[in-house]
Amino acid sequence: MKRSKIMSIIGSDSIGQEVTVCGWVRTFRNNQFIALNDGSTIKTLQCVVDRETFDESELKRIATGAALRLKGEIVESQGKGQAMELKVAELKVLGDSDPEKYPLQPKKHSLEFLRDIAHLRMRTNTFSAVFRIRHAAAFAIHEFFNNRGFVYIHSPIITGSDAEGAGEMFKVTTLDLKNPPKTDEGEVDFKQDFFNKETNLTVSGQLEAELGALALSDVYTFAPTFRAENSNTSRHLAEFWMIEPEIAFADIHDDMDLAEDMLKYIIKYVMENCQDDLEFLENRLIQEEKNKPQNERSPMPLREKLQFCLDEDYERLTYTEAIRILMNSKPNKKKKFQFVIEDWGADLQSEHERYLVEKHFKKPVILTGYPKEIKAFYMRLNDDDKTVAAMDILFPGIGEIVGGSQREERLDVLERRMTEFDIPHEEMEWFLDTRRFGTCPHAGFGLGFERMIMFVTGMSNIRDVIPFPRFPGSAEF
Ligand code: 4AD
Ligand code: MG
Repeated sequence: MKRSKIMSIIGSDSIGQEVTVCGWVRTFRNNQFIALNDGSTIKTLQCVVDRETFDESELKRIATGAALRLKGEIVESQGKGQAMELKVAELKVLGDSDPEKYPLQPKKHSLEFLRDIAHLRMRTNTFSAVFRIRHAAAFAIHEFFNNRGFVYIHSPIITGSDAEGAGEMFKVTTLDLKNPPKTDEGEVDFKQDFFNKETNLTVSGQLEAELGALALSDVYTFAPTFRAENSNTSRHLAEFWMIEPEIAFADIHDDMDLAEDMLKYIIKYVMENCQDDLEFLENRLIQEEKNKPQNERSPMPLREKLQFCLDEDYERLTYTEAIRILMNSKPNKKKKFQFVIEDWGADLQSEHERYLVEKHFKKPVILTGYPKEIKAFYMRLNDDDKTVAAMDILFPGIGEIVGGSQREERLDVLERRMTEFDIPHEEMEWFLDTRRFGTCPHAGFGLGFERMIMFVTGMSNIRDVIPFPRFPGSAEF
């Protein structure tokens, strides 16, 4: 008999059907009631064993964490709490689990503890819900772009360029670190390295996506990116996934429209397809926040927050307007911000972004027109010669979730900007070629996938929304 997933059994009228189910024991009560979970849904299937039918020795092996295959009839449940249950006729223990040693006991574990056993944490309700939602969001993103005729581009993971000019990259080399070949000047001779040059893990697929857009019109990447910044925060990872659409014949307004549509599409898709998981995570968050002071709790329950971000138009304003608001704000005047804003030109910190979103506008915000000095070289210079056509989207509880811009399509301006940023032109000839041959207005942005998952799941630490997080001091599993 073919195995049925628990989701399909619970999700349809299965009463009277003979089924085979496989899964892991969550609890085993009274030597009779197994709560079985197979990860297809947050729900467990109650499976009832008749103590008379099965050997004592077999029943002993049914312990939390054990893997079972059960066969039997789905019947109306006698007890409360579930509509149906499995009357077990055949039972096979596929994998034992010593209850004395199994780290996941049927009780509440802290997220920190579970992070240390990330190889098992997907078996908990919280993490299985998070990773089902992560899957749904990834699917929604591909669906969104496919519906709009975008081409999915695979940008390289190993690259010789530093797209963001951030200089915080992981090096890729096969040279012997103990005894690397040297040039006459005493420098490491990367000409003898695997690629005959210095290479690193990519920080962004954008520059390659631009090449795609200038041929295919609308493209996007969805890939891992790597940053060796030493940021030990709840919003940074050293390895994170980024979605980077790039659109030709488009300006900053088209870019903002696309980003807002995409974010809403993901939220809507998750709300429609992950109802049970969202309900569970919403209640989890309420429980967790009970220990927090009122002013640190989420202003809305999870699903209400998601609905709110679907219904509202995002507030669009310039950096200059935002600075004025921030300089007039109470926390700035009373020097409550860690970084007090003194002047136009200051880089916005997450505390400022969250003030704008959570206190001032109380909805998602799109900021444009940042000072050229604090943004990347490829952003299009505005006519004021001071600001660039950048756009950042700020979300409640998260801060920056999207960063993007219209691109500098004018060869002479781009070359001048590269010189200002000390970027060697000869390494970027391939990029400049797009501006030499058939250049056109184009724009794009990057969505941090994990930040999006934090937002839709209500999880407060980015390390809890990626299966195996990489951050300073940690590359386990
Ligand atoms: O703002 P960023 O650095 O922009 C770029 O990389 C552009 N090349 C994107 C583009 O225009 N195609 O990063 C984009 C987003 C941020 O808004 C944030 O959500 C996320 O990526 N992000 C991180 N997420 C997790 N950990 C980190 N260390 C992150 N750094 C950026
Ligand atoms: Mg950014």
